[in-house]
Amino acid sequence: MAIFVTGDTHGGQKHGWMSVDGFMHRFNTESFPEQKELSKTDYVVICGDFGGVWDTNRFEVKESPAEKDALDWLERKPFTTLFIPGNHENYDRLMGCKNEALMDSWFYAKLPAAEKKKLRQGYPRKQWHGGFVRELRPSVLMLERGYIFVIDGKYCFAFGGAGSHDIQDGILDPACFPDEASFKEAYKAKRGQMFRVRGISWWDEEMPSLEEMERGRRTLQAFAEKQGTIDLVFTHDAPASDKLYMGYSEIDELSRFLESLKDVMHYGKWFYGHLHDNRRVFENHYLLYEQIVQIG
Ligand SMILES: [Fe+2]
Repeated sequence: MAIFVTGDTHGGQKHGWMSVDGFMHRFNTESFPEQKELSKTDYVVICGDFGGVWDTNRFEVKESPAEKDALDWLERKPFTTLFIPGNHENYDRLMGCKNEALMDSWFYAKLPAAEKKKLRQGYPRKQWHGGFVRELRPSVLMLERGYIFVIDGKYCFAFGGAGSHDIQDGILDPACFPDEASFKEAYKAKRGQMFRVRGISWWDEEMPSLEEMERGRRTLQAFAEKQGTIDLVFTHDAPASDKLYMGYSEIDELSRFLESLKDVMHYGKWFYGHLHDNRRVFENHYLLYEQIVQIG
């Protein structure tokens, strides 16, 4: 059995011929020949920005044909795919929409009640290997934040999420407009700016809630009291000191939280994505993007 880990995939397809994105590109047999020896008891972990569930459908809650094809393709692969969420995921569809204002607005006015119920639920939530996952397919699972999963006999702490950088010019919220026409007008006025739209290209849950952070910390504390060592840490964002070391001066609440976890856990290796590079940052801290590394 083996565990492989990689960085952001940003969806199923690659975008442009130079792109390293797209899990159908990254995990094809030519790019990832190791899979010839693998089975469903081997794991490939994506450190956030999976992107396989992205499209918002205002009339029916379902995968787009391209998403369905890509997820079915992944399900047919001879390994189990695990991902933690990043800041480019449709959280409403993955984990259930909690934005009742958006659900009540013109935006979802044509979504039937039964579909709204589906949207509130997200993908099925299941207990798996010590924590909770969202099951996109039997072997394509999202690891929820703040749990210790036992994967291939290793204790793995997962904590996805990160703050988006590409929102300098704000978030446009459809629920703040009385109708589609006024929203479209505001959207047009923002052309050329760096903004995203709540419920279409940006979701509040990209940053973990206080509850998730507390659960993560408590879980690690309880584990440490039993003298446990976390073998592998998977996060999307990097701890504060890693970011400072790499020259990032803006340190947010999540990076500070991740940094603080070092005080409550003994751990082996820490892997993260988000910063779109491949670097061994410290002795046991690894930033990954397109590289696929075998770690066990
Ligand atoms: Fe990314």
